[in-house]
Amino acid sequence: MINPSYVVTIDGPAGAGKSTVAKRAAHELGIKYLDTGAIYRAIALILAKSEIRPDSEEFLREALSEIKIELRENSVLVNDFDVSGEIRTPEVDELASIYSAVPAVREALLGLQKEQENYGSLVAEGRDVGSVVFPDAKVKFFLTASPEARAKRRYLERISKGKEADYEEILNSIKQRDINDSTREISPLSVPEGAVYLDTSDMTEDEVINFIINHVKEALSK
Ligand code: DC
Repeated sequence: MINPSYVVTIDGPAGAGKSTVAKRAAHELGIKYLDTGAIYRAIALILAKSEIRPDSEEFLREALSEIKIELRENSVLVNDFDVSGEIRTPEVDELASIYSAVPAVREALLGLQKEQENYGSLVAEGRDVGSVVFPDAKVKFFLTASPEARAKRRYLERISKGKEADYEEILNSIKQRDINDSTREISPLSVPEGAVYLDTSDMTEDEVINFIINHVKEALSK
């Protein structure tokens, strides 16, 4: 039986392994992967480059109405310029966390995220995809892990890519982003209603993937 189009959401804090898990789960299910964090990163990068401060509401709204964001299979384009490489830096980690707390920014990006559902089934990953963007998703997950486990993963990931890394610095940044993401007034990071809560601190990537795939298949068979 072919299932009608469906959405799986994966929310959770920074470094919980969402991206890797969401990408692999989408691949194994044969559906698309939507990285909403990449959209926030791209917009934060361009706003910061344009020297538009997060508290200058009027300038922000004007700039947001002029910025065109396009999502491709493995890249994000801002005003036709591919920023996929530039958005994965510690600086953009901080910028995205700051700008994503601004209501005007979240409002401007909501439509673009929601419309992705029109192009077929997808696994969406973010901070509010199960609660705000796709509240009617077929299956929702909330993936988390201790700050130390998450910092260790980020550290090893950066080292394996030949980049410089400082564990304490990463841990502090993760803790600060947790505070920013969960205390902001609009769409704070929270466990969406009906989401399956998964603490991955002591789980391997394969264990997490198997858990997710089994859960989705079971939900689709009902
Ligand atoms: O998942 P990430 O680290 O790439 O996300 C970058 C930032 O964007 C992070 O600080 C939280 C924010 N974000 C958000 O507020 N809502 C989302 N749906 C996705 C990301």
